[in-house]
Amino acid sequence: MTYEKKEQMYEGKAKKVYTTNDPDVVIVDYKDDATALNGKKKGTIVGKGVINNKLTNYLMQVLEKQGVPTHFVSELSDRETAVKKVTIVPLEVIIRNISAGHFASRYGVDEGIVFAHPTIEFSYKCDELDDPLLNHYHAIALKLATQEEIDLITELSFKIDEVLCAFFKDVGVTLVDFKLEFGKTSDGKIVLADEISPDTCRLWDAKTGEKLDKDRFRRDMGGVEDAYQEIMRRVMGA
Ligand code: TMP
Repeated sequence: MTYEKKEQMYEGKAKKVYTTNDPDVVIVDYKDDATALNGKKKGTIVGKGVINNKLTNYLMQVLEKQGVPTHFVSELSDRETAVKKVTIVPLEVIIRNISAGHFASRYGVDEGIVFAHPTIEFSYKCDELDDPLLNHYHAIALKLATQEEIDLITELSFKIDEVLCAFFKDVGVTLVDFKLEFGKTSDGKIVLADEISPDTCRLWDAKTGEKLDKDRFRRDMGGVEDAYQEIMRRVMGA
């Protein structure tokens, strides 16, 4: 099946989405635009779109092999991928293995505390409200998802953590935390959607603790492009 790009359906902060000749498939086109602080900080990370496209596709295929259903269909070009058309569940799922970012600031602890068990948190995917944190009772009250969907999303998210932690460990990278989004296909199946990349994961060099992710952009640390390339090289040997 060859997929033809038709109309632009949506433009997000990091990606554009197009309809195709197949009503169940859309094309995602990754941009180099980078935002932080919910869009308040804007910039460009040269080559990011290519890296995030390829990394996401690679990692989604690793996950598929381990039994995690994803939206991935096929990579079309450096920046474009065909994915199953889904309705995004408006929950951002964050898994943390080590304290960092908002966990550290919210609870007043240092970054780098290794947890005995990973944590999960949900936020309501809503830019106008700055993606507020909520628990699963709130999500059900707001009809963002059903109990069964949240149970499945929770189970899949911890499974994804297990698979990705082991995968990154093998290439000398510590998976600190990450954000996932799930979608529902036209036949009602919940699948992993969105991306898995240095934009959405905290990735630290296992030996030196050097940050190899978007925190370099968020915190104006420099070396952003090099960090993304280093992750690409470690994961894909390219
Ligand atoms: P946080 O510490 O800022 O809550 O971020 C936790 C992880 O989730 C981190 O790896 C970055 C990722 N993340 C996103 O991908 N998008 C977001 O909007 C937020 C807030 C975090």
